[in-house]
Amino acid sequence: MFYLFSSPEAIANHLSQRLLQIMQEKPDAVLGLATGSTMEPVYAHLVELVRLQKPDLSGITTFNLDEYIGLPPSHPQSYNYYMHQHLFNPLGLNEEQINLPCGVCENQEQECQEYSERIKAAGGLDFQLLGIGTNGHIGFNEPYTPFDSLTHVIELSENTRLDNGRFFDNQDEVPTHAITMGIKDIMDAKEVVLVATGEHKAQVMADLFNSPVDEFMPASALKQHGNFCVYLDEAAAGLLPANVLKRI
Ligand code: GLP
Repeated sequence: MFYLFSSPEAIANHLSQRLLQIMQEKPDAVLGLATGSTMEPVYAHLVELVRLQKPDLSGITTFNLDEYIGLPPSHPQSYNYYMHQHLFNPLGLNEEQINLPCGVCENQEQECQEYSERIKAAGGLDFQLLGIGTNGHIGFNEPYTPFDSLTHVIELSENTRLDNGRFFDNQDEVPTHAITMGIKDIMDAKEVVLVATGEHKAQVMADLFNSPVDEFMPASALKQHGNFCVYLDEAAAGLLPANVLKRI
């Protein structure tokens, strides 16, 4: 389950090739995508691969995990903005191929329900890319989110607001709520890869490894997924027993 790579670049290299392979083997693949600094090298590598190999991406559909409530797509810290900047624009995807939860819609309840339904209607997620918060959140599913949850609005924990505060000018600007795919939506994906890099992720990796399958640790749900693995660099793997790591 835990795959060890020499560096974040090595992970990005491997993962971008896997993503390209999925898109080539299944031209109408449905990809679940994540944001965060962990994904930046992954997307940079994928953009470069696509530039070199020029696959036809016109049948691909994407669904992002989450979005801050209250940030419009034009806000530089919105996940919509992030995705267009790092991936969608460089790949030349058109808006019909892209799905992001709406953080500024009037009827959030309806938006949540429709988002999970849209994933199903597209045929389900062939692949879900995940990062992880230092408290074990996936998407924005904070500790104690029910494992049977679908897309929902969630109040962000103080821990998450502090972690993500580094992207904002000041802490007060960090939104208090987000809309996120639920844990069930993620679990329904056919293949899930979680990426953790850097020393600041070492503790949560140890926590995930040691945790029973329990809503206290959202990522622990994935231990019950039949096709799930974690990609780690040396720093993030620092607190894991060497014999559980498979070196790539
Ligand atoms: C946010 C996102 C998560 C992401 C996490 C880690 O909270 N909602 O999906 O996994 O950040 O981000 P980073 O990769 O910047 O550490």
